Amino acid sequence: MDYNGRLRCDKIRSKIMTADEAAKLIKDGMIIGTSGFTPSGYPKAVPLALAKRAEKEDFKITLYTGASVGDELDGALSRAGVIKKRIPYQTNKDIRNKINIGEVEYNDMHLSHMAQQMRCGFLGKIDYAIVEAVAINEDGGIVPSTSVGNSPTFVRIADKVIVELNVSQPIELEGMHDIYEVEDPPNRKPIPLINVDGRIGTTYMPCNPDKIAAVVITDIKDTVRHLAPVDETSKRISGYLIDFLSNEVKHGRLPKNLLPLQSGVGSIANAVLDGLIDSPFSNLSFYSEVIQDAVFDLIDAGKMDKVSGTSITPSEEGLKRFYKNIDRYKSKIILRPQEISNNPGIARRLGVIAINTAIEVDIYGNVNSTHIMGTKMMNGIGGSGDFTRNGYITIFATPSEVKNGNISCIVPMVSHVDHTEHDVMVIVTEQGLADLRGLSPKERAKLIIEKCVHPDYKDALMDYYEGAISKLGSVQTPHILKEALSWHIRYMEKGSMK
Ligand code: COA
Repeated sequence: MDYNGRLRCDKIRSKIMTADEAAKLIKDGMIIGTSGFTPSGYPKAVPLALAKRAEKEDFKITLYTGASVGDELDGALSRAGVIKKRIPYQTNKDIRNKINIGEVEYNDMHLSHMAQQMRCGFLGKIDYAIVEAVAINEDGGIVPSTSVGNSPTFVRIADKVIVELNVSQPIELEGMHDIYEVEDPPNRKPIPLINVDGRIGTTYMPCNPDKIAAVVITDIKDTVRHLAPVDETSKRISGYLIDFLSNEVKHGRLPKNLLPLQSGVGSIANAVLDGLIDSPFSNLSFYSEVIQDAVFDLIDAGKMDKVSGTSITPSEEGLKRFYKNIDRYKSKIILRPQEISNNPGIARRLGVIAINTAIEVDIYGNVNSTHIMGTKMMNGIGGSGDFTRNGYITIFATPSEVKNGNISCIVPMVSHVDHTEHDVMVIVTEQGLADLRGLSPKERAKLIIEKCVHPDYKDALMDYYEGAISKLGSVQTPHILKEALSWHIRYMEKGSMK
């Protein structure tokens, strides 16, 4: 593998070793922080070697990352039984299963919070950082690949650093990153970022070369995610959203080119953004964490020219397109640490329009993004809380029903709360859009039932709401606690909420 030109620090040439040798540095009980945010830019060779080592040896680690990562890390290590604890977000089905049977302890954390909590010692001492890079500079500075995540903090505070120098990642990624780390209280200063395309840091993560314990040369590619094609449900959701945004512009509550958009992960989020291609809006900007295919579509369509995130997260097709046109995309995209991409202060300063996906929503506007039937972890809160608490307009999208119509995504009371009624401004399903701004809980309930609920569940939800009022009178938030979660219980016992 040709890594000439990528390993620029002569001092660490002697640290080149195989993944098996590097994996031996990791000891039982260690806390490991790795690069990676979505299946992008995460280390692959050393985790695979660690999983192999676990076939003959018993050991456990605590694994911290930026967010979700690819199967070579979360999948391989959880199948090997190596992960004792995991923070802050995951999407891999094998680690999810281990979490839900109690074999892995999981702290589901706001993504913007983690770097500070690590620096301030809340999460223990990081023994090793394992980070993927496209290059190592003369002074040890590490140039990240397709994501930044928490890597600058891991590199700064870990005792030692293992670098996976990945030659399959194009060297042209160099220059896309803007690495800035904030000081901690009481010495914090304002973060000087005032525009989506502002640059406030370096293009590499500073690292003392003496800290680099191993350099592993690899060419294993990111295992990117499949994105479902845009379906009728997503198209309708997108249509309602565009009508809503157009109306905001008409009434002077948003500028013509809107405000910076933030969009969640997954197929619905991608489809919603894709809908903007045929919208009347142009000169759009994007201040978010993950950059999915729809962002490339919007750039190609000449609709979007400023993009900031922490990770390039395309489909397989999207990744090919990104690599082929990397110079064009590079001029419009900046990758930042998640402490900056998800920073609540910056989201509020820029006036981000936050669009995220819910698992379920209740008639009063509370949102569950993480737990299936209130108990089983799906993925985690990710960055949805960072943006939802602080956005200019905060929107949640969800299909009105799932599982062949056996589950209504609008319920009397969410079985787990991630985003409260105080944070959520708009709910949209393929049935319609409810603008909750300024409404009392009772006003919200009537509007959500009227606009967002599937016709199969409308009467039952209205009966619940009216029943609560007739029993309790017109209290602030009418609920019959005994009945509130009976919808979920009905599904668990009979396989349908109907
Ligand atoms: N009750 C039970 N199951 C439900 C459900 C509900 N109300 N709503 C969805 N599900 C199930 C789906 O059927 C699907 O099940 P499957 O895996 O067995 O097919 C699963 O949950 C995921 O749903 P899907 O429609 O594929 O989701 P998605 O890819 O659009 O993701 C979230 C939706 C909410 C899981 C995802 O957006 C997420 O993890 N959000 C939290 C983090 C976040 O918002 N990050 C972005 C911040 S920038």
